[in-house]
Amino acid sequence: MISQTMQDAINEQINKEMFSSYLYLSMAAYFENTGLPGAAKWMYVQSGEENEHAMKLFHYLVDRGGKVALKAIATPQAEWAGPMAAFVEVYAHEQLVTKSIHDLYEVALAEKDYATQVLLQWFISEQVEEEKNAAEIVDSMKRIEAHETAVLQLDHRLGKRGND
Ligand code: FEO
Repeated sequence: MISQTMQDAINEQINKEMFSSYLYLSMAAYFENTGLPGAAKWMYVQSGEENEHAMKLFHYLVDRGGKVALKAIATPQAEWAGPMAAFVEVYAHEQLVTKSIHDLYEVALAEKDYATQVLLQWFISEQVEEEKNAAEIVDSMKRIEAHETAVLQLDHRLGKRGND
């Protein structure tokens, strides 16, 4: 049986993953309105992945005999100063999520919850990937921001993202 402390902390993380999904869905809407369908597609895929992260934790709690307690999801921002600002926020947000996963791991260590530590190792590796992907797009944006044709080419590349 999972401890109350661990259960509460996982429920908090489920909410953060759901908020991430909502935030990226909001960015998808922003990119649709901005005429960058490739970036919108990237955000739809990212939003779906965040939902999967939430569900991974959800099912884990159920498997451990815990109780899922869903909380209200905060309203995400809807407008950004430009494509660059949106991707800078993706990167900053992923860094926050990484910190939150590390904090959760600290709880699992303190609770001597070995099963949760194993589960969280997957999330820790996933965050390395998430930060890397966002940082790469920010770097590309920085180089091409002033060149509309190059922005459209990058949009085309982002639109090729599959459901990985
Ligand atoms: Fe679920 Fe992007 O972290």
